[in-house]
Amino acid sequence: MRNDLDRDAVQAALSTRWLGRAYRHVASTGSTNDDLRAWADAPAGAVLLAEYQSAGRGRLGRRWEAPPGSSLLFSALFRPNWPVEQASWLTMIAGLAVVGAIRRTARPDRPLDARLKWPNDVMLVADGQPRKTAGVLLDTSLGGDGALERAIVGIGLNVNLPAEALPDAPTPPTSLLAATGRGQDRLALLAAILGELERLYEAADAGRSPRAAWNVELLTLGQSVTVSPAGGGQPLRGVAETTTEEGYLLVRDGEGFLHTVTAGDVTLRGAPDVDNPAAGR
Ligand code: BTN
Repeated sequence: MRNDLDRDAVQAALSTRWLGRAYRHVASTGSTNDDLRAWADAPAGAVLLAEYQSAGRGRLGRRWEAPPGSSLLFSALFRPNWPVEQASWLTMIAGLAVVGAIRRTARPDRPLDARLKWPNDVMLVADGQPRKTAGVLLDTSLGGDGALERAIVGIGLNVNLPAEALPDAPTPPTSLLAATGRGQDRLALLAAILGELERLYEAADAGRSPRAAWNVELLTLGQSVTVSPAGGGQPLRGVAETTTEEGYLLVRDGEGFLHTVTAGDVTLRGAPDVDNPAAGR
């Protein structure tokens, strides 16, 4: 089990051409997304990884917390020059990369059931119960032409946290250790994630949308959901039907109206009751 994520170890383990080839490893920082933004001459593909974050950021202004050395906490820099509507492709490919890496690496003899929950959660499903093991945080900035000049993709993956160290979170959490009972090789996981991410980024950069693959992995689709709006307000209940090319979620309410959800917390309430369409209300 390899736990050392220093420069030399990571460079030797990587299969990538450009992603992670510029690499910084720090023992402790506030947030890797913020540090990567402050890394002035960082080239596209730069990766910054921390063993501990004192101010790790999650979506919707939440905190992301993990004990030192327990997790993968890192950020990767892209310079996509894509239309801004495609920003969500980065969240999609990051989630897909983590799912693929977990399946291939964490327990190869009996792959974990890793899936995605809209919009940015990586879940492990055990005994029918999905639990969150990773999250993706996307920070973008636009150039003068309105295109995406810089995108920082932050990934937090709960790796070797024992069950009792899992943080309190709105979505029930887990870790790869808690799910498998095995200590995990963080280096192999990091190399697998970056390898997948480079491949998926190149496909997206060539204009191939990751949405179809994302939809396949989204356990949200086809489920009865409750969407709590980001800023508070009336929750929406309905059935999550599909996503849009911008990555929004389309939810049909009990009266048949289709709602476009751009942000918010989604609680899964299970597959809809086919005998009782109003059950999704
Ligand atoms: C979420 O699920 O809300 C997103 C969590 C993202 C956490 C990662 S950890 C590395 C990077 N740096 C941060 O401050 N946040 C992201």
